[in-house]
Amino acid sequence: MLPLLLSIFTLSGFAAAHLAAFHEAMYCFNGTTAGQVNYNTNDAVNPLWDLAQSDYWFHHVNNCDQFPPAPGDVLELYVFTCVTLSFVYVFSNDATTYSPAGGSFTVEIAGNRGVTSYSFNGEYATEWTDGQNHTGSTDVLTQATYSSEGCVVDPNIHTQNETMASGTAFAISYNSELSQVTLDNLVVFSVLYNTPWKRVTTYDVPAAMPACPSGGCICAWVWIPNGCGEPNIYMEGFKCTVTNAMSTTPVGTPKAPVWCESDQSECVQGPKQIMIWNQLEGNNIEVSGNDLSGMPKSPAYNAKCGFQNGAQNDIFATSTSSKRMVARHKRPATAL
Ligand SMILES: *[C@@H]1O[C@H](CO)[C@@H](O)[C@H](O)[C@H]1NC(C)=O
Ligand SMILES: *[C@@H]1O[C@H](CO)[C@@H](O)[C@H](O)[C@H]1NC(C)=O
Ligand SMILES: *[C@@H]1O[C@H](CO)[C@@H](O)[C@H](O)[C@H]1NC(C)=O
Repeated sequence: MLPLLLSIFTLSGFAAAHLAAFHEAMYCFNGTTAGQVNYNTNDAVNPLWDLAQSDYWFHHVNNCDQFPPAPGDVLELYVFTCVTLSFVYVFSNDATTYSPAGGSFTVEIAGNRGVTSYSFNGEYATEWTDGQNHTGSTDVLTQATYSSEGCVVDPNIHTQNETMASGTAFAISYNSELSQVTLDNLVVFSVLYNTPWKRVTTYDVPAAMPACPSGGCICAWVWIPNGCGEPNIYMEGFKCTVTNAMSTTPVGTPKAPVWCESDQSECVQGPKQIMIWNQLEGNNIEVSGNDLSGMPKSPAYNAKCGFQNGAQNDIFATSTSSKRMVARHKRPATAL
């Protein structure tokens, strides 16, 4: 098996691979050839650049969106992990004022399914995204190739180090069919700064996420690297559901984020869309000039575009209730 695996990696240009979030609930988990299971698939990892909307949307460019996960393979978004918290939540008059911590879910960010736990019993999976054993401090990758600009190019994680990693995000649409998902009903609900970096990656879930329709929800993993290569975006789909939902307040209609690095008061508050950038059509964010560090501006799922780290707790209901939530957020944790 090993020689076969290695030769496939070589043939598919594994060294030049990019990244996706792997989970059995992803679209094209088994690749994009009907009736075949590709344990080395990297169909979801390829970046999206300069494409028509029909092509970038859920990675249709190589038909990834045409291969839904098997029935029952669903990414479960746990709203609560702890019985006590849900008890408090149920018995509070105004649930949003408590904003208890939500649960979390885990995916594996990698360049190829072959180096995740989802293939070959995890035999080729390491701590890292490329199946190699890098060592040293978390901010410097040993046994990696750096470009002359100081970017890690092998593995191709599009960053100089962990601190510079731009952030990745998950968005949710309360629709069960991928064909029903639009930019206007796909809401970013979780952001993780300083990713992608390692393979196993855990995202927080807002505690107030309502339940999905009976057919489940559609989720998307998204990433825009900060330079270190072509200015691409990444997008892939998942079947997902919200488990243990307590709140019934729906998520609001998302707005397009704006660049607000130097003035956080300019950031878009409340529910936000995923960012479509450098495509042929449908772009919802434009930037020009340099960021505060002197590099060309690159939209990102971090504070530069108004995304807080972790669960996005401001995506629900009316504008008045979200303002109140911000104000009362400052209560000491002991209020719980
Ligand atoms: C993908 O392959 C796995 C075996 O690894 C199988 O259990 C699953 O049903 C396949 N999914 C689809 C959608 O064919
Ligand atoms: C990584 O380290 C583990 C544990 O020492 C070892 O089993 C594995 O073969 C190593 N993988 C590579 C690609 O060197
Ligand atoms: C990370 O990379 C940036 C950009 O090259 C650099 O300014 C910073 O010092 C690096 N951080 C560490 C901890 O190496």
